[in-house]
Amino acid sequence: MAIEKVAVAGCGLMGSGIAQVCAQSGFPTVVREVNEALLEKGLKSIEKNLDRLVEKGSLTAADRDAARGRLKGTTKIEDLAGADIVIEAIIEQLAAKREFWSALEPLCPKHVIFASNTSSLSITEMAFATSRPRNFVGMHFFNPVPVMKLVEVIRTIATDPAAYDEAHAFALRLGKTPVRTSDRTGFIVNRLLVPYLLDAVRALEEGVASIEDIDNSMKLGCGHPMGPLTLLDFVGLDTTHYIAEIMFNEFREKRFASPPLLKRMVMAGWNGRKAGRGFYDYSDPKNPRPMKLG
Ligand code: 3HC
Repeated sequence: MAIEKVAVAGCGLMGSGIAQVCAQSGFPTVVREVNEALLEKGLKSIEKNLDRLVEKGSLTAADRDAARGRLKGTTKIEDLAGADIVIEAIIEQLAAKREFWSALEPLCPKHVIFASNTSSLSITEMAFATSRPRNFVGMHFFNPVPVMKLVEVIRTIATDPAAYDEAHAFALRLGKTPVRTSDRTGFIVNRLLVPYLLDAVRALEEGVASIEDIDNSMKLGCGHPMGPLTLLDFVGLDTTHYIAEIMFNEFREKRFASPPLLKRMVMAGWNGRKAGRGFYDYSDPKNPRPMKLG
């Protein structure tokens, strides 16, 4: 059955981006947050993003209004039950996700596809928190969701190939480029990206080069849009450390071990751009300055 209506659970950074892309792609979309304050914050950020697209001339005012009109916010889990696919982008904690899926499942008709946007948790473990693991996939989007073209579509050992193909086709209908992968921690991107980011911290820790020179090397030498330490600040040091811990537990390989400097910065709460400081100081957000780390 082709997907016509979409539900998104979570309206934070990832959930709001996913909801925006779904509504802009023509799907009636309901997005749920756990309380009104968080919901309002998420919806406001979508509106701001849509307005910016209109200001830049990449979206007409009529298309913005139509997208906004397709988007409905709610705090009730029941309101997610009328969709053909539910994309979950709630807090990155397995217990919370399992609890969400087991509460939602009994409310949904049998054909509904369940998709988690997790970056590091096991899709299999979530799938078996429901009684229909055949309908369960991962759909991992990238930040900022409206800009980044990739979606990793993840199957488990139990996923029905028809549900998997439907999720893959749905990502195409969102204007994204889906890639097929299986449920191994980190999937494709984080399996390659996380050791690279951790190595950049190790290089800094070992005095190989300064923050700016490490970043400029990868920007100008390899054509990356951001250097690794800027990207760490963008993704969040706490988020990267958390993903690395899960990957280290899965693979027991040194390349996934968080370096001591990263751990110390997370302990200090210097989690990157969202915290105002990480490898850079964002007191002046337009002109981030490298931090002096000890
Ligand atoms: N929301 C919506 N649009 C945004 C945006 C946001 N948060 N940030 C930037 N944009 C848009 C801009 O409006 C601009 O659009 P335009 O070309 O139509 O004018 C375009 O993106 C480029 O932005 P800027 O000119 O301001 O700046 P950049 O050229 O530096 O691009 C960037 C910003 C797209 C964020 C780019 O630096 C980039 O691609 N960085 C790497 C991001 C990345 O690697 N993300 C993946 C992180 S890993 C992840 O998410 C997985 C997780 O599991 C950890």
